Amino acid sequence: MNEISTEDGNSCDEGDKTPNNISATNRLESNVRSYCRNFPVVFTKARGSTLEDEEGREYIDFLAGAGALNYGHNDPVLKEKLLEYIERDQIVHGLDMVTGAKQAFMKEFESMILKPRKMRYKMQFTGPTGTNAVEAAMKIARNYTGRQTIVSFTNGFHGVTLGSVAATGNNHFRDGCGIQPQGTVFMPYDGYMGEGVDTTEYLDKMLTDGSSGLDHPAAVIVETIQGEGEVDRREMDGRSKAL
Ligand SMILES: Cc1ncc(COP(=O)(O)O)c(C=O)c1O
Repeated sequence: MNEISTEDGNSCDEGDKTPNNISATNRLESNVRSYCRNFPVVFTKARGSTLEDEEGREYIDFLAGAGALNYGHNDPVLKEKLLEYIERDQIVHGLDMVTGAKQAFMKEFESMILKPRKMRYKMQFTGPTGTNAVEAAMKIARNYTGRQTIVSFTNGFHGVTLGSVAATGNNHFRDGCGIQPQGTVFMPYDGYMGEGVDTTEYLDKMLTDGSSGLDHPAAVIVETIQGEGEVDRREMDGRSKAL
């Protein structure tokens, strides 16, 4: 077993398999780690909506990849297709080159989603993270409208790359940029001003009053349910719809 020495002078054992021990992560991973600080468990298995840690304890995974795992962990149908794809030595990484799988996906999407709805949309393949999609959406909105301002909401979280973090409320993320996040204006999210205040009316006034100081925005970005700002059922009610 090899010894690895780390910046803080500690040494660690590559074969460290201590149950329920995240010390190797604390020692070796950068300080930008986030959720694992509040949930210091080593997960080793996942199926459907259940996660299992290295001691065999089971957890219901309400986070579900921040909503990205719509079919749960390791869905048997998806797993089978994925294994079959790799088994056939298909393309796993192709930049934006044309691959058979990508083209087949686009054609299927066209016939199942676009054509029946008479949608004349183009597809854009962003990077794999949420913040990539947010960055792309902001760029498109700004390019198309020729405007700069994106309206975002208090307590909102949209990712930590420069454009997305500018639409993210929390100072913890904003302060990590090393540069002033730009191009966004924040409006109060539902409930931010107290129970009696309809914040959609406030937003409406700001958008329609030529003296509000709010430049006409390129886009408004909103989470219908906020996760980082604490999940609250109210957000599914009328005001989100009004927005
Ligand atoms: C609403 C929302 N938008 C964007 C993101 C950013 O996604 P990613 O961390 O994959 O970049 C997240 C991540 O939690 C999110 O919850």
